[in-house]
Amino acid sequence: MTQPTTKIPISSIILDEDIYPRKGIDPRRVGIFAENIRDGFQFEPIEVEPDPGKPGRYRLLDGAHRWSAYKSTGVAEVEAVIKDLDGTDPLLYAAKKAIGPKQLTEDEARDTARRAYTRNSSLSSADIGKAIGRARRTVDSYIADLKAATQMGMDIKIFRMNRLGIPQDRIAKRLGQAREVIRDHLAKMAVLPNPPNTDLSKGFTVSQVAEKHNWTEPMVWSLALEDKEDLERFKELGWGLRTWDQWEWNDCDKRFGDDWPGRIPAQLIAHILFYFSKQNDLVLDPMAGGGVTPDTCLALSRRCWAFDMTDRPKTRPEIEPHTWTPAPDQHLSWPVSSKEKADLIIFDPPYFDKKAADYDRKSISGLPKKEYLEFLEAFFALLKLNAKKTTRLAFINADWRDFQSKPAAEESGKGAILIDDYLRILNKTDWQHTHIIQAPMSAQRFSAVVVAAMQKKRILGVTSRYVIVLKQIG
Ligand SMILES: C[S@@+](CC[C@H](N)C(=O)[O-])C[C@H]1O[C@@H](n2cnc3c(N)ncnc32)[C@H](O)[C@@H]1O
Repeated sequence: MTQPTTKIPISSIILDEDIYPRKGIDPRRVGIFAENIRDGFQFEPIEVEPDPGKPGRYRLLDGAHRWSAYKSTGVAEVEAVIKDLDGTDPLLYAAKKAIGPKQLTEDEARDTARRAYTRNSSLSSADIGKAIGRARRTVDSYIADLKAATQMGMDIKIFRMNRLGIPQDRIAKRLGQAREVIRDHLAKMAVLPNPPNTDLSKGFTVSQVAEKHNWTEPMVWSLALEDKEDLERFKELGWGLRTWDQWEWNDCDKRFGDDWPGRIPAQLIAHILFYFSKQNDLVLDPMAGGGVTPDTCLALSRRCWAFDMTDRPKTRPEIEPHTWTPAPDQHLSWPVSSKEKADLIIFDPPYFDKKAADYDRKSISGLPKKEYLEFLEAFFALLKLNAKKTTRLAFINADWRDFQSKPAAEESGKGAILIDDYLRILNKTDWQHTHIIQAPMSAQRFSAVVVAAMQKKRILGVTSRYVIVLKQIG
């Protein structure tokens, strides 16, 4: 079947090496083609696809030698078939086309197979083989090491999610695998920690072992601290335990969680876990952001289900994607159907307004005050509905005052959200506070120049942050 062609300027076509399967262009072939063109010979049209990154430009899929010959003869426009590959890998498509007139060399076949697999590890050896003109087994031998590394990545992800107590069906869904595949992997899990454990017993540090085995530090901590009591874990992690209700740290512990807007110190999460949960309890973090809660749960041996609107499947498979959005009937939906309910909920929402620019457009941080508080009210009611009688809620929040440009005496308090506003909503939704812990944010983020300017204008800044711990009324 002949495909429709379009005349496009030759200058709008590029040879993108990322999707070109050959090592180079053969100048002799180009020379012969150029002579044929001058003699008036009509070639098959070349094939291109729209360049995904550059509107109005095209990437060559088939016809690199013809395209070079046209260019060398000074032709301005060529007939081309503009393809929509609809998800087919362009490198493999180009390879399949290239082997029509001439097989790929051994080097080209190996290189194309490896590049294709690196771009998309769900491609099978058979699929790659078909495109590059090699047997499945040959492709297996080309990509054996890459496959092993991907497999290892998958094992570690399953291990981590399993350790956090995420049910198998959700692990399977999150990793795009069949449940049987997850079950088979889990059967091998008992031996997976052996190599890192051996290195730990030889005296290597947690960070050395993490780096060597490509594990995250919190996962190695979860092995290194296995069977230890909480107090011992605090000691080994270098976290001095606060005995009173004032928790203050100058810095986040960089070993836990990612660099994330509004990142909470792991020490703060660890204190919530220490006082309000036991080992193996189930902790829920509905807006987990950079992952401090699941990381700290690994180190303190708690299970953890974490959710966030930001989806990072490669680095944070344990944070399941979910956006809490009220439906038109003002109902929020619960992301999972499991019967099990959390023992402790750690809820650290983005603060009102201040951080809106840091997060996704759909983040609740961008809501006006009234809607923000309405969202929280609906959310606390939803948490109550999905909690058990004994569930504790730890709600982390900061006072919000519009202090930035006003002397303290001129603040009207109109747009402010203070701790009593939150308490009112919480009590209204049947949550009773048992503790209000002061956990101020570090004032170090303000530079000396800013501080001097604030003092001059009598501006009273905010570092107040609280952990309000609650249980259900009744
Ligand atoms: C303050 S951050 C959490 C930080 C986290 N505790 C940490 O230390 O890394 C708040 C998170 O809420 C998420 N978020 C905001 N609105 C959301 C919504 N409607 N549904 C789900 N997540 C939301 C943001 O993506 C952000 O990661």
